[in-house]
Amino acid sequence: MDKIIINGGKPLNGEVRISGAKNAALPILAASFLTEGTSTYTNVPKLQDIHSIKLLLSHLGARIETDADRIQIDTRNARGHEAPYDLVRKMRASVLVLGPMLARLKKAKVSLPGGCAIGARPIDLHLKGLEQLGARISLEHGDVEAETDGLKGGEINFDLVTVTGTENLMMAACLAEGTTVLNNAAREPEVVALAETLNRMGANILGAGTAVITIEGVSSLNPVTMEIIPDRIEAGTLMVAAALTHGDVLITHCEPEHLGAVIDKLKVAGADITIGDHTIRVKGPDTIQSADIQTMPYPGFPTDMQAQYMVLMCVADGSSLINETIFEKRLIHVSELLRMGADITISGQTALVRGISSLSGAPVMASDLRASASLILAGLVATGETVVNRVYHLDRGYDALDKKLAGLGADIRREK
Ligand code: EPZ
Repeated sequence: MDKIIINGGKPLNGEVRISGAKNAALPILAASFLTEGTSTYTNVPKLQDIHSIKLLLSHLGARIETDADRIQIDTRNARGHEAPYDLVRKMRASVLVLGPMLARLKKAKVSLPGGCAIGARPIDLHLKGLEQLGARISLEHGDVEAETDGLKGGEINFDLVTVTGTENLMMAACLAEGTTVLNNAAREPEVVALAETLNRMGANILGAGTAVITIEGVSSLNPVTMEIIPDRIEAGTLMVAAALTHGDVLITHCEPEHLGAVIDKLKVAGADITIGDHTIRVKGPDTIQSADIQTMPYPGFPTDMQAQYMVLMCVADGSSLINETIFEKRLIHVSELLRMGADITISGQTALVRGISSLSGAPVMASDLRASASLILAGLVATGETVVNRVYHLDRGYDALDKKLAGLGADIRREK
């Protein structure tokens, strides 16, 4: 297993380009299953999760060609309707093929994704919504078995905001007969990017980006050519890195308007932020100010940025409260930060972070994608050497983050 070694204390300076968004690419690639033909996607990030969904789509009969950040998917012979456990367990977002398979093939068998480090991650809202569109669903031996005589539009009220739940139902509704309304829908930019892709394929979706999405079913969808939007969480992670190390970093090929909550919070923390055309320049303050956060569905402060922001607060002047409201176990990075000398107390889903002058380098263990990123950020400012183990978690969602940080002057290297 690879590990990443960092010697802290170097300010980050220079320019860094953001890769395509993992959480936009995954549903958009899954949506290729709604059509029969060859679709082309560009600015696709090189990530383990993208490799996983390509494996799954190939298993279902798609022919895939990859050339750098460009992927072509030919679904003419994609007739498979079973997503097996050994593929789904590697990536829970595999559940995103459920809606498309059911819509086009009228049957689907997808292994129930287990929980993961950050929580139970149930998919009950996905299944309840599909049943409301006319699917018959049973859970057999760890698999979701779904079939339908033909999906019919309906009104779906999500008990809580679910990103992939909204995406799964939006895809299924595209080929359902009649009108579907999704209430309390997720408003993430990745949901909007998926809706734009589906409309370019011939779907008829209104309201994406708001809490009410209306889908008029059509009889079929066409192949598409689509560029993947920039990854707002990678951009946010690098913004925190610049602020943390008192550096001066220009982030390019990003979408500043996807980062409103993060930009506002980092300004309160003292960062000097300049917005340009698809660029964000971040100059770190001499003293980081403490500021509380509460993670919320978009456009609130993203849960995927919580661990990264916590590191910034660990070395801020003063104390801050960090309340994680989305996932029940997304404070597990705290135990590793404590090993690095952080002063954090957890009460329920809230962490009280008391700022200290500096963290101290130590060997630490990554547990999930964003926790790995937070441990690397901590290593950038800790005194001495930090070794982050199990970086396969990082490789699932960050495209060469260690190289990008080294390019900005960090003393960071990867070892087998
Ligand atoms: C998406 O996960 C993202 N993944 C996550 O990013 C992100 O953290 C999350 O949205 C929240 O923004 C992808 O887009 C591939 P949810 P998702 O359904 O859709 C509960 C990363 O780091 N829930 O919005 O799985 C659920 O348990 C990953 O890139 C149900 O109870 O998250 C959670 O508490 C991690 N029943 C809350 O809703 C359901 O049927 C939000 O989950 C569905 C969800």
